[in-house]
Amino acid sequence: MKQVFIIGIGPGHPDQLTVQAVDALNRVDVIFVMDKGEGAEELVRLRREICERHIRDRSYRFVDVPDPARDRSAPRYEEAVADWHRRRADRLAVALGSELRDGERGAFLVWGDPSLYDSTLRVADLLAERAGSELVFDVIPGVSSVQALAASHRLPLNRVGESIHITTGRLLRAGLPAGIDNVVVMLDGDCSFTTIPEPADFDIYWGAYLGTDDQILIAGNLADRMAEVQRVRAEARAARGWIMDVYLLRRRTGARDEP
Ligand SMILES: C[S@@+](CC[C@H](N)C(=O)[O-])C[C@H]1O[C@@H](n2cnc3c(N)ncnc32)[C@H](O)[C@@H]1O
Repeated sequence: MKQVFIIGIGPGHPDQLTVQAVDALNRVDVIFVMDKGEGAEELVRLRREICERHIRDRSYRFVDVPDPARDRSAPRYEEAVADWHRRRADRLAVALGSELRDGERGAFLVWGDPSLYDSTLRVADLLAERAGSELVFDVIPGVSSVQALAASHRLPLNRVGESIHITTGRLLRAGLPAGIDNVVVMLDGDCSFTTIPEPADFDIYWGAYLGTDDQILIAGNLADRMAEVQRVRAEARAARGWIMDVYLLRRRTGARDEP
């Protein structure tokens, strides 16, 4: 039997791992790394730093698994993503078969928390379906970028009695759901907050590179801050070659869209 930990490693600060995550890291023999896209190299470097910092008196090895390309021209987003997950599972199945010996423990290190906008758990399900009881997955939660955003702005995500909606830039562009006052937006490469029809009715709490030495925070009325966030984001991305940012949009009290 092979055991694989899926470990949430937080959004970038090596101290933002739980004790449970550190314990799991210290039981691991092989760490499988599959990264893609913008900032991939730096994210791999940060993962290695986290391991060097937390794994004590234990030898372990990294195995890089090349990420298959996603077909971005496919007409149906959901189908394209499902196909990409299947191909990721194919590659990981090969790597687990050849690199993890029976009785050894492996790990996938997941940015933030594995439950939030991350495909690792879906891919793990595909792998478990194929391997049956030969492969056991254990999930260790992590600090998500959403929690890091809230903490950095010293902010509760909801006001009393209100809901929180978590979405992506792509979905925000389709419009805000009615009656929602607090919206957390992730995976937004296009500054989709610029599409909000009444920006003066919202405040924005924006954060980039949260938890790292390069963390940037901007907060204020969306109409006043929109251009600043766009400029700062573009400059930071140009300087580093990649960016990860997340923000909360909060409807101002008295600016509700419903009677
Ligand atoms: C693929 S999702 C992964 C989310 C992750 N599972 C989590 O719990 O935060 C990547 C998105 O998370 C957000 N993100 C992750 N780490 C971040 C960080 N350190 N600073 C700001 N945003 C971050 C960004 O919105 C980014 O586009």
